[in-house]
Amino acid sequence: MRDDLEAAGIVVQLELAQQLPLIPGHKGQLQQVILNVVTNGTDAMRAVTNRRRVLTVKCVSEVDGIAVSVQDSGTGIDPKDIERIFDPFFTTKTSGMGIGLAICRMIIQAHGGRLSASPSVPHGSVFRISLQPSLKQKWTDQTPTDILEPHKKKPRRGGGAREGSRPE
Ligand SMILES: Nc1ncnc2c1ncn2[C@@H]1O[C@H](COP(=O)(O)OP(=O)(O)OP(=O)(O)O)[C@@H](O)[C@H]1O
Ligand SMILES: [Mg+2]
Repeated sequence: MRDDLEAAGIVVQLELAQQLPLIPGHKGQLQQVILNVVTNGTDAMRAVTNRRRVLTVKCVSEVDGIAVSVQDSGTGIDPKDIERIFDPFFTTKTSGMGIGLAICRMIIQAHGGRLSASPSVPHGSVFRISLQPSLKQKWTDQTPTDILEPHKKKPRRGGGAREGSRPE
């Protein structure tokens, strides 16, 4: 991924703490969150030609867990849209679906954490994911379709149904 970003003229800065608490979670889902947020940051920097394109990923230890932040030097987010960007189908892109962040927030909330966005000074945006190591996890077997079409009820599973995702 770093190679793709650098090919797009983006400088990647990683600031990862050495000692971090172990966070139980679904590895594939959490990777998907990071991928979506990094892709959005890359998109936001595509239009930037008059300053450096910098993507900074930090992972720090917090009193009650960890925080991962992804900061870009892109176009930034209109303050009036700062919460709407998490709504399903909200997009400002011609080819966007507007579902990336809705799914990211669902995944993080299902892990008992929080995902938020704020302006980055002087340019761009910063997305922050906080996760705790030992909250009572609200594990879910919701799929993106369940989030986007909540009115469509899933058929009930019989007694022999396979179990949902488990922490890795
Ligand atoms: N880092 C960012 N900088 C500026 N705007 C952003 C950033 N991340 C998200 N946005 C805004 O939030 C909107 C919603 O993002 P989201 O990831 O949900 O959908 P999308 O990227 O438009 O489409 P896709 O479904 O392909 O992800 C984007 O269209 C964009 O306007
Ligand atoms: Mg997206």
